[in-house]
Amino acid sequence: MCGIVGYTGRDQAAPILLDGLSRLEYRGYDSAGLAVRDGSAPAEVVKATGKLFHLADKTDQGRALRGQCGIGHTRWATHGDPTVINAHPHVSGNLAAPGSGAGDSDVVGVHNGIIENFTELKEKLLRHGYVFYSDTDTEVVVKLVDYYYKKYRIGPVDAITRTMVRVRGSYALALMFRDFPGEIFAARKDSPLIIGTAEDASYLASDVPAILKYTRSVYYIDNLQVARVSPGQAVFFDLNGDETAVPLTEVTWDAAAAEKDGFEHFMLKEIHEQPAAVRDTLNSLVKDGRIDLGAAGLAEDTIRSLTGIVIAACGSAWHVGMAAQYVIEDLAGIPVRVELASEFRYRSMPMAAGTLVIVISQSGETADSLAALRVAKERGALTLAVVNVVGSTIAREADLVLYTLAGPEIAVATTKAYSAQLIAMDALAVEMARVRGGITGEQYDHLLAEMAALPDKIRRVLEDKERLQWFSSKIVNAHDIFFIGRGLDYAVSLEGSLKMKEISYIHSEAYAAGELKHGTISLIEQGTLVIGVLTQGKLFEKTVSNMMECKSRGANLMGITVNGNFAVEDSVNFTVYVPRTDEHFVPSLAVVPLQLLGYYTSVSRGLDVDKPRNLAKSVTVE
Ligand code: G6P
Repeated sequence: MCGIVGYTGRDQAAPILLDGLSRLEYRGYDSAGLAVRDGSAPAEVVKATGKLFHLADKTDQGRALRGQCGIGHTRWATHGDPTVINAHPHVSGNLAAPGSGAGDSDVVGVHNGIIENFTELKEKLLRHGYVFYSDTDTEVVVKLVDYYYKKYRIGPVDAITRTMVRVRGSYALALMFRDFPGEIFAARKDSPLIIGTAEDASYLASDVPAILKYTRSVYYIDNLQVARVSPGQAVFFDLNGDETAVPLTEVTWDAAAAEKDGFEHFMLKEIHEQPAAVRDTLNSLVKDGRIDLGAAGLAEDTIRSLTGIVIAACGSAWHVGMAAQYVIEDLAGIPVRVELASEFRYRSMPMAAGTLVIVISQSGETADSLAALRVAKERGALTLAVVNVVGSTIAREADLVLYTLAGPEIAVATTKAYSAQLIAMDALAVEMARVRGGITGEQYDHLLAEMAALPDKIRRVLEDKERLQWFSSKIVNAHDIFFIGRGLDYAVSLEGSLKMKEISYIHSEAYAAGELKHGTISLIEQGTLVIGVLTQGKLFEKTVSNMMECKSRGANLMGITVNGNFAVEDSVNFTVYVPRTDEHFVPSLAVVPLQLLGYYTSVSRGLDVDKPRNLAKSVTVE
C-alpha cells in the first residue's frame, strides 16, 4: 500500500526522502512523488509514475530539489489511475502541470488510506470555488484542510482536527503549511504512521524500516491524533486540539535486519532467517522450560473457560489459522473456526459466551483484520492479536497480544513472519492442551522438545535448496500448478500455492486432495504439475491415491514428505524430504521447500521477486 516519508532537519531532505521511500518500496506502489521546501520558499513538487528510480532520475537523485524539510510518497492507486497528476503530493492550489511547484498553495500533503465520503466533500469544495486537477481523494483532503485553515483563520492543528471530524475512512496524512517552514503536520486514523526523532532532525514514515538507519526513538502516533513535527521534536494533540502525551519508544529491531545482507533478494534472506524467527518467537513464549503466556495476558482460567475459538486473518496469516485449527482441535479439543477477515467483518456470526477471537497479522495494520478485530470486540468476544509489528494498531486495540519475533519483513511475499506465526500458534495450542488436560505431562514435554528442535530442522531443509532450484528451472513455463493435501497438509498447500502464484505469476490452486475429483481434475492435462504434501501418516495413502488419479491423466508429480517415506518415489517424479518431527509441527518444515520453489521459479522467470506486480505488503484498504 502507499508509503509515506517525511523529514525536517539540517540536511538536504530529498535524498533522505528518496532513501526512505526505497525502504518502503516493498509495500507496493505504482507512482511516487516528493515535496521539498527551502526555508520559507513554497514547496517544490516532483512526481513520476513507475519505479522509484524514475523519480530519482527526475530529481537528479534528489540533488535538484533543495531544502531541508519535505514529504514523500509512494502511491498504490485506489481513486484515479496511476498517472503523474494523480500521484502525491497534492496541493491546495492548482497544480497546473505535472511536475510544477506548489506555487501559491498554502497546504501540500501526502496520504495513505481511503476517504469514503470524498465525493460529497469534493462537491462542497467545488461550491466554494476550489478547482480540482486530479481524481484522487487525497486532493480533496488537502483542499479541505486548506478550506478550514482559511475560513476560520486557525492554525494547522485546528484545521486538521476539523478535517478529521468531517472525513470518513482511513488515513495517514503528512502536511506542510506555507506559513510554517521547517514543520510537518501529521494525523492518522487506521493507517500506519510513525514519527522518529533524533538530535536535530525528525522523520515520518509508514513503517519502521524506512527510518531505522537514522533513529530508533519512535513515537507511535495513535488513532485520531495530530502531530506537529519540527527538527528533533514532535508534539501531539487530540481531536479537541488539546496537547496529549505519546510515549517515546526505543525500537529494538536491528538495522542490518532491514538490509539484504549479501542475499540477492529480501525473500531469500528472510527464508534463511526462519530458524532464528522460529527460535526467537518460541523462546519468548517459554520460561524455565515451560510455555508461559503471561506476557500475552492469557490466564489459565480464561483458557479453561473457552467454549470456542474464531481465527480471523488475511493472506498467509489466514493460512496459519488454517493450520492452527487442526493443532488446537487435536491437542486442546477446543472447536475452531477460521475466517477470512474480509468476510468475517460482514457476517453476523453469533458469538457464544467464552469465544476467543484470534487475529493473526504480521503488520498489525491490515484493514480487514483490524475491522474483524473491532467487530469481535463489539460482539463481546475476548480478542487476542498475534502480531509482528510492535505498537501496530491491531496490537494496541486487541485485549491481549502475543508478539512474534520475526523482525522486519521486507519481501512482499511473507516467509519468516508466517513461520513465526505458526510456532506462536503451536505454542498456544500446546499450552491450551496442557491447561485443559488434553495431553499428559509426558506428551507436553515431548511436544515442547519437538518445537525446540524445529529451528535446526528448518536449517537442514534449507540445505536442500539446490535441488529445488534445479526443479524450478524445469517448471518455469508451467501454465497451472495444483497443490494438494489433506488436514495440515492442505493448510501447507494453501501457503505453497500462494507463494508460487504471487511471485511467479503462474496460475496455481490449492485443493483439499479429496476435493480434486469434484471438478478440478478436469483441468489436469499432459504434463500439468501436481504437488502433493504428504507428511501426515494417517492421510498419506489417501493423498498418494489422489495423486495417482492425476498421474493417470498425464500429470507430472512432485511430493513433499518426511524422511523415511521412500516408497513415495515409486509413484512420484520428484520428491523432497523434510526431517521427521511430531506431525502437528511438520508444516513448519514442509512449507520451506514450497517457499523456495516459488522463489526460484520467480527468479528463473526474471521477475521482481521482492515486489511482485499489483501486490502490497501491508493492505491498509478494504
Ligand atoms: C498481504 C501480504 C501477505 C500477508 C497479508 C496479510 O497480502 O502480501 O503476505 O499475508 O497481506 O498481512 P498481515 O500483515 O495482516 O499479516
